[in-house]
Amino acid sequence: MKKTILISSTILTACVLMVPVVFSDDDRREYRQRSVGVAAATSPAYKEECSSCHMAYPPGLLPERSWKKIMAGLETHFGDNAEIDAESFKKISEFLAKNSADKSDYRRSQKIMRSLRADDVPIRISETPYIKKEHDEIPEKLIKYNDKVKSIANCNACHSKAEQGLYDEDGVNIPGFGRWDD
Ligand code: HEC
Ligand code: HEC
Repeated sequence: MKKTILISSTILTACVLMVPVVFSDDDRREYRQRSVGVAAATSPAYKEECSSCHMAYPPGLLPERSWKKIMAGLETHFGDNAEIDAESFKKISEFLAKNSADKSDYRRSQKIMRSLRADDVPIRISETPYIKKEHDEIPEKLIKYNDKVKSIANCNACHSKAEQGLYDEDGVNIPGFGRWDD
């Protein structure tokens, strides 16, 4: 009896000691996301204030200087008034600055950064050279003249996991057209 307890507790201890070297599902998911995507938006204030008209764009899709410019112009935001209260403004600005593309080591964020010149301050993700290049083979009729898409800014119309920061081809489904193979 005692021996059994000793053996099982030895096995148990060994298992506990082994845990740190075994990768959990979360680790694997994070590794995959780092290599294929950008980090998802996590700030509750950001999600609340910046996802009523479009998806909450992951902050790693633009550099800090772009987010600053966007936040400074919320009163006249792409033809809408997207002004917010001072407290949310502060929280969201801090969140965007900390998680922007120039602070991120996620692969897509770095590709976006490499496509920009140091003095480029784009306020559209859809107009950064990297994102433009990735979509330049999609015919206009599938975007502009597609009621379920309208604009490339509508990332989640085609990328089912856009809000989570995943853009690999497996997740692409263009409304009225389907999967994209090239
Ligand atoms: C009242 C509606 C509204 C709210 C609220 C709003 N936006 Fe927008 N936003 C728009 C519209 C409209 C566009 C242009 C979309 C298009 O061209 O298809 C846009 C576009 C954008 C784009 C550019 C997308 C692209 O790549 O072309 C960014 C970035 C953005 N918004 C950030 C924000 C942030 C940050 C907030 C929160 C502080 C916010 N938005 C809140 C209406 C809104
Ligand atoms: C009309 C549908 C559509 C919209 C809207 C769209 N995409 Fe895409 N996106 C695609 C397709 C299709 C591809 C694959 C292109 C290819 O492989 O030639 C793609 C590729 C990409 C890639 C490269 C993925 C890879 O594995 O190389 C990224 C990153 C991306 N999109 C991000 C975005 C972001 C960010 C937005 C919104 C600002 C967006 N997309 C909006 C259809 C769309």
